[in-house]
Amino acid sequence: MKTYLVTGGAGFIGSNFIHYMFEKYGDEIRIVNVDALTYAGNLENLKAVADRKNYRFVKADIRDAAAINKIFDEEDVDYVVNFAAESHVDRSIENPGIFVETNVLGTCVMLNAARAAWAEGEGFREGKRFLHVSTDEVYGSLDNDDDYFYETTPYDPHSPYSASKASSDFLVKSYVDTYHFPALITNCSNNYGPFQFPEKLIPLIINNALAGKQLPVYGDGKNVRDWLYVEDHAKGIDMVINGGRTGEKYNIGGHNEKQNIEIIHIILDTLRDILPESDERRKNVSDGLITYVTDRKGHDKRYAIAPDKIKKELGWEPETRFEQGIRRTVRWYLENEEWLKGVTSGDYQKYYERMYAGR
Ligand code: NAD
Ligand code: DAU
Repeated sequence: MKTYLVTGGAGFIGSNFIHYMFEKYGDEIRIVNVDALTYAGNLENLKAVADRKNYRFVKADIRDAAAINKIFDEEDVDYVVNFAAESHVDRSIENPGIFVETNVLGTCVMLNAARAAWAEGEGFREGKRFLHVSTDEVYGSLDNDDDYFYETTPYDPHSPYSASKASSDFLVKSYVDTYHFPALITNCSNNYGPFQFPEKLIPLIINNALAGKQLPVYGDGKNVRDWLYVEDHAKGIDMVINGGRTGEKYNIGGHNEKQNIEIIHIILDTLRDILPESDERRKNVSDGLITYVTDRKGHDKRYAIAPDKIKKELGWEPETRFEQGIRRTVRWYLENEEWLKGVTSGDYQKYYERMYAGR
């Protein structure tokens, strides 16, 4: 039985990954979820697995070397999947320091702990692997519609978030090159799906549209992102950790590039389509809520992944068409109003005021 140490498993992608893995492998694996439960971490996301005997949650900070080393002492970890991070670009523009601390120093702590726990002779125990989950934002921004990010595209990060992720990627690569440490990196495009915190575009638009609040579009709304349903990302991570070549990096993306304004119209149409006329919330849903606001500083124009390598080597392909994925996502938010209320009460209101007031 393989033991996975998942960091950041209470967040959006981490929790979807844990659900995916238990659905696929059942009792054949053990998962230890290590999460500091920041504003973005929510144990509600994991209610359905909390009582499993092959699941353990540990509240710990990846910057805390003593706490992380203790977990490696207690568990015979086979695979690390490092999701834990500060993940929101706008917050990184407001406060870069915490991004460096968690994304760079935290990753360094994880690497050192695994390196020490897995050491054997000059190398490492057989079968151990460390997958660092990263982003396509490390590659910077594309100018033309027919340009794509490949694994060989030079890094050119622009935001403090993407710079911190690029730094952590380089750190991981340095452990591979220096110590022959058994690590891999995935660089994925924009995810969407259940459990995403409503600071990110898709859940923010759903939440605001239902409340009849303005739908803030940064700049001209023509920036392009490559959207991937989160379960397809989880599947890609599973394939890379179990079948990827050690020391390699793999791009994961949906070939599903859309302008932000298109996404907003699709969400509004989907809400109108799903909600019955009798539902009070439907009355709020209106194109008139769309409001063009001051652009994000350093806003990257276009991201687009070429997933050729993961397709060729591991047979991964996105399975969820966008029309299907966005419908499933909108329906999930409609059916999980309590979850949405829970995460948008308290500090979220202050964040929203700070981020959008006077924009
Ligand atoms: P998220 O913000 O939803 O979740 C992050 C999780 O990490 C939370 O549970 C939080 O509590 C935890 N965390 C934060 N700081 C921590 C610390 N110091 N110690 C332990 N836990 C801590 O993020 P997400 O969107 O699920 O992203 C997960 C990973 O995937 C990140 O590394 C991100 O860079 C990467 N990624 C995200 C996307 C995307 O579209 N969301 C795309 C590509 C890659
Ligand atoms: O590309 C992968 C990255 O995708 C991940 O590494 C990040 O963790 C994740 O947050 C995401 O980054 P983006 O900045 O692309 O996502 P966000 O949802 O914040 O914004 C998507 C696009 O929508 C972007 O062009 C900015 C725009 N936007 C966003 C918000 C929150 C708006 O126009 N209005 C908004 O209110």
